[in-house]
Amino acid sequence: MSISVATRVRFAALCILLGAFQSQAAETTKLTVHVDRPGHAISPMLYGIFFEEINRAGDGGLYAEMVQNGSFEDDRGGNEAKPVKMPGWTLLKTTAAQAQATIDASSPVRAKNPNSLRLDVQTADGRIGVANDGFRGMALKQGAEYRFSLYARAASGSQGALHVTLEDTAGKVYASAQIDGLTAEWKKFDATLTANATTTAGRLVIAVTSPGTIWTDQVSLFPKDTWKGRPNGLRSDLAEMIHAMKPSFVRFPGGCYLEGDRLGNAFRWKNTLGDLVDRPGHWNLWGYRSTDGLGYHEYLQFCEDLGAEPLFVANCGMSHEEQSSKNDRKAASPDEYLQDALDAIEYANGPVDSKWGSLRAKAGHPAPFHLKYLEIGNENSGPLYDTRYALFYRTIHARYPKMNLIANCETQSGPLKINDEHYYNSAKFFMSRARLYDGYRRDAHKVYVGEYAVTDQCGNGNLRAAIGEAAFMTGMERNSDVVVMASYAPLLVNVGWRQWNPDAIQFDNARLCGTPSYYVQRMFSEARGHVVLSLDLDANTAPGRPDAKPSQDKTKDLGAETLFAVASRSASGDVILKVVNADGRPRESQIDLAGLDGRITSITATVLTSAADEDENTLDQPTKVIPVTRRLPVTAATFHHQFPARSATVMRATVAK
Ligand code: AHR
Repeated sequence: MSISVATRVRFAALCILLGAFQSQAAETTKLTVHVDRPGHAISPMLYGIFFEEINRAGDGGLYAEMVQNGSFEDDRGGNEAKPVKMPGWTLLKTTAAQAQATIDASSPVRAKNPNSLRLDVQTADGRIGVANDGFRGMALKQGAEYRFSLYARAASGSQGALHVTLEDTAGKVYASAQIDGLTAEWKKFDATLTANATTTAGRLVIAVTSPGTIWTDQVSLFPKDTWKGRPNGLRSDLAEMIHAMKPSFVRFPGGCYLEGDRLGNAFRWKNTLGDLVDRPGHWNLWGYRSTDGLGYHEYLQFCEDLGAEPLFVANCGMSHEEQSSKNDRKAASPDEYLQDALDAIEYANGPVDSKWGSLRAKAGHPAPFHLKYLEIGNENSGPLYDTRYALFYRTIHARYPKMNLIANCETQSGPLKINDEHYYNSAKFFMSRARLYDGYRRDAHKVYVGEYAVTDQCGNGNLRAAIGEAAFMTGMERNSDVVVMASYAPLLVNVGWRQWNPDAIQFDNARLCGTPSYYVQRMFSEARGHVVLSLDLDANTAPGRPDAKPSQDKTKDLGAETLFAVASRSASGDVILKVVNADGRPRESQIDLAGLDGRITSITATVLTSAADEDENTLDQPTKVIPVTRRLPVTAATFHHQFPARSATVMRATVAK
């Protein structure tokens, strides 16, 4: 029998087609969500944030103060070899003029804040003054109002007014005001400045035009438009970006920041209350000075404005030094720190006639802040921590039995209710631990993953990092009967002061962008289930049950999977499926929403992906890797779906009963 060429060609084409079909069928992953098999409730506290003063997250960032070093305390003292400097400030004068700007600690506004600026002018030649360019330029917006204030005094016999301008380095003036009435005594002056144009390279100039001596201190410039219009408030764009994460809680103020490299540099909340001129500020472990303008009250207010529970980390009398020297230093007495922790609770929650509650009321918030979570120290561990934890736990619990107390290691010394675990590692590490908590004991303490991020091959926060974290997050959510809280870290970086990399939100004086990790946090937080649903994933070991692979060994690689998933049901009945495909190839899947108790009215998929693992967002290109939501053209309970290469997907099926 002879077979024609045309028939042979047709046959060959059919074989190729069948082969392709078979190989596609072989690579299709079956993903079955058992809608009729709800498991444990998902912790409503699961997705929160961790705010640490690092990378100028607060001063020079979220805290909207635009003047750097407005209290002239930022230099740590000087001597002949190293004269005192004035970070943030420069002297403006012509060469013909004779004038000096110096730090003077002889007669401060407040002894706690010893430095002020002394401007001596012997020969005036036009304008002589000092300029502050904020945090690498002040961003001014046309039509926006700025609240300027300062303390000032003048030597007797000194004439004239202070001329205050917002300008750029080319001398273009955006707003101006004149301050009159300086006397020999310190007096506070203020003015509202309205910008007549927009710039990101603005600066504040305070100048005189005649000889004499003046002193200034506590110089401040705030946008009127702070977040929620709070005085001494927050930068709106950054606060909004955080708000969009819908965090259940905010852990603050650190981190190592809380500890201080020495206790002298630790965050002491009592020093952060009241009028700004009464706050001494402190040199912080991350190498710059905190004004503490963003203080304990402001943190609590931020949490309230976000609708998030505050989680205050209280120092237990241990600095970073104790941690790194393995506790062999002479430990500070815990008494003062224990009292601080008790008083912090009273400040947040106590009645208005209590000692600390009355200060909260005086600060404008008579209602309690309802602080329910307190962590005892940060990353301390070791024998000294064991004794501190036991002391703090027992004392605080006896006074405030409903307070949720969190430990920073698996201490055996006291009742351990919630342990804060921190992970900074590679994407592979996180993916291989996506089932870490499947094996955790259900009768032991709960877990708070208080800090985690991919820090290896992560660029400045790339897609690879986000995918690694998303894979791990499917495991946390699947096990949220154990992992009750989690927060990515760090949250913010001013790109001019990058100390820790990567961070969820990057910004400069005017711009901001989220990393792919930021968007993963948002996607998971926005799509919260009420209960976890049983799920079978036939391409991998089934990740459905908590006891699937018992192991508490955090050091061991637990698998080499590339597809990760978790399913849940929302309180309103939506089925939510989160799928992470870490593979460099798309993944074909057949999704089955089994045992559905209603009719699907719509299915949406929100997808974060990009062409390469290295892809990231920058201030110049802020939306290169962002999630895109589309409605799927299906409403059936069983359907085919392709998960793109290196992607995180949140699928939501709305069900009508
Ligand atoms: O997030 C940065 C630092 O990492 C935190 O300050 C500390 O807790 C951890 O070591």
